[in-house]
Amino acid sequence: MDEFHYRRGILHCEGVPAAEVAKKAGTPCYVYSRATFEQHYRRLAEAFAPACPLLCFSVKCCSNLSILRLLVSMGSGMDVVSGGELLRARRAGCDPSKIVYAGVGKSDAEIKLALQEGIGLFNVESEMEFENLARIAKELGVSTRAALRVNPDVDPKTHRYTTTGKRESKFGVDLERAEAFFARYGADPLVSLRGIHLHIGSPVYTTDPYLESVVKALALIDRLAIGGIAIDTLDLGGGFGADYESDQSPVAAEYATAILPLLVPRVQPSQPAGRTPLKVVLEPGRAIAANAGILLTRVEYVKQSGDRTFAICDAGMHSLLRPSHYGAFHFVWPVAPGEALVPTRRARELVMPGLVRTEVVGPLCETGDFIAEDRLLPSVTRGDLLAVYTAGAYGMTMASRYNSHPLPAEVLVDGSTISIIRRRESYADLIAHEEV
Ligand code: LLP
Repeated sequence: MDEFHYRRGILHCEGVPAAEVAKKAGTPCYVYSRATFEQHYRRLAEAFAPACPLLCFSVKCCSNLSILRLLVSMGSGMDVVSGGELLRARRAGCDPSKIVYAGVGKSDAEIKLALQEGIGLFNVESEMEFENLARIAKELGVSTRAALRVNPDVDPKTHRYTTTGKRESKFGVDLERAEAFFARYGADPLVSLRGIHLHIGSPVYTTDPYLESVVKALALIDRLAIGGIAIDTLDLGGGFGADYESDQSPVAAEYATAILPLLVPRVQPSQPAGRTPLKVVLEPGRAIAANAGILLTRVEYVKQSGDRTFAICDAGMHSLLRPSHYGAFHFVWPVAPGEALVPTRRARELVMPGLVRTEVVGPLCETGDFIAEDRLLPSVTRGDLLAVYTAGAYGMTMASRYNSHPLPAEVLVDGSTISIIRRRESYADLIAHEEV
């Protein structure tokens, strides 16, 4: 699952004790394992290799430049959703032709930047957006490639905030509108509209929603072919799961085994008359990054309120928003519980002697500021370090400075080497933009 293991009762990230990282970087801090990033990227790449996909890491889930550079060095492209993410991808050395750009609200300035950078694919989400893209391309006198994000009306059975492919969603255009879309814009002289983009939600813990949406997309591609429109790119988006609990998610090979039989025949260079070979794009984020990171936090105080025990930590919803925003489960455990209390697996409840029902909360002035509610944990005290697992995706990227707490540090561990890849913000950083 990952390279965060207990040795003699002490949590290590690869070869380094977690406490050593905390000593060097302070807390709260995000700690990433290079080996885990590599392992998860490789597993996806190998599993889907028969479809020769372009893997575009979804920058929104973990956008640190050092992480992006690592993935670029492994051959990854990037899925971006803003000018800022595009800048990060380019700064990390990503070849622009391997950058795909989605998002329902691309501004004129962002479109211009992406056109000037020469990105590989615009994933267009509405008629108005296509017209705007075509207008700006004409003004600049540049050509580009685009895919239409299609809403396949499939239920990915995930949190409603991250369900994106149902009919009523703000993303993409309905399947029924797709043919008219291609009929209207398919001959644009500068924006070559030859792709279909899907992203049904995140995380998707079963393979059926992918099958359903790919079947619908391929049927659409065949209908378009009959009308003389040759689709050459199918971007399946992201959404593959991660293990917030042990063995919770299908592994990369299971997703691939389910989806590949539909894709492999369509990517072969020689196709039956009327069919165009497809280039497949995938946009995984969480499946690569989530298990590759933890959040380290220190317990400031322990207190009782009524019959509840609170461990008040220096990380809260400002450091990791997922528990309070989505009710998301993150496994939490002390980094030095002692050999007798090493967790055997990551689960909602572990049965061990002496565990205490604990509310793991942050320092913010909100009751919704929690990391874990009603959790059985070894008894903790002031100064203890806790690890919040599976925090590598949508952790740091969703962190805020609420209550004027500076953003956490980020650390990359490679074997026995600790590198600070984002320094902790200082109070000077916090007010820097206001000192006008
Ligand atoms: N492609 C598109 C177009 C997306 O919108 C997303 C995620 C991805 C790819 C990557 O999905 P992944 O492989 O990481 O599941 N903040 C939420 C997740 C929001 C996902 C938004 N889109 C969370 O913390 O769970």
